[in-house]
Amino acid sequence: MQILTTATGLQAYTEQARQTGKRVGLVPTMGALHAGHLQLVQAARTDCDEVIVSLFVNPTQFNNAEDFRLYPRVPEADAVLLEPAGCTALFVPSVAEMYPLPTVLRFDFGALEQVMEGAHRPGHFNGVATVVSKLFHLARPHRAYFGQKDWQQVAVIRQLVADLSFDLEIVACPTIREADGLAMSSRNLRLDAAARAAAPLLHRVLTEAAAQVRDGVMPAQVRAAAEAALAQEPLVTPEYFEVADAQTLQPLAQYVTGRNVVLCLAAHLGGVRLIDNVVVAA
Ligand code: PAJ
Repeated sequence: MQILTTATGLQAYTEQARQTGKRVGLVPTMGALHAGHLQLVQAARTDCDEVIVSLFVNPTQFNNAEDFRLYPRVPEADAVLLEPAGCTALFVPSVAEMYPLPTVLRFDFGALEQVMEGAHRPGHFNGVATVVSKLFHLARPHRAYFGQKDWQQVAVIRQLVADLSFDLEIVACPTIREADGLAMSSRNLRLDAAARAAAPLLHRVLTEAAAQVRDGVMPAQVRAAAEAALAQEPLVTPEYFEVADAQTLQPLAQYVTGRNVVLCLAAHLGGVRLIDNVVVAA
């Protein structure tokens, strides 16, 4: 596995791969890798000849300085996991390498980012779109892999690709969970024992809500029941629970035949912010 630290190094590496007819896969991450990330690497490995994993805690997508400071950083442990998973080149740039100048360009994803993560983390998707655009330009992958754990992020990136005509395919992979249902997340490392014990409630609430959606319970009632269930756990401070159209992400007042529904939530547990979602087929 090659270790690349410069933008020009990444460009040269993938340019050479393309010139020799290789298919290039890109897996953008912020590190502190777990099975959710490694699944993306494995998917890329089956589809592509070169698998580039980027490991960069991107400052521009954090709207909270403390969250950026406390974000887990374990690059040596990450590198050990990546090679056996099929990564052929690891891109670990510094902040100065990715941002030689302060960025001024601003992305506006309209209604897509006026809800949920976009509404609760102002500037977050601007930072995601900025860094992902840079990675797409530098690596010029044939395919880029993202997790459905961040459902809204995938929607924003698909819009980015369409709007800027990036010549690549986005592959969205399913959410990988712990045995008790908790969605794997780098932030889980920051949960203390009590918060970790309470955390599976998030997925339980989503699963119960999904069953209600399938039973035809109206969105407002599904929302109210989920909020009530979350409120019963003192260690959980819910931020939002949404019943939304899976594609447009707009909150639903009623279901539309033929359109999938996504149930999304964000909650704080002992100072750690977690998100999760499930999709219910129409
Ligand atoms: P990060 O949170 O490190 O996640 C990297 C990728 O792994 C994302 O596509 C995310 O959706 C996926 N992922 C995380 N947990 C997962 C799980 N439990 N199951 C499946 N996939 C999972 O998302 C980011 O980084 C950043 O915003 C990034 C896209 C790298 C831009 O900085």
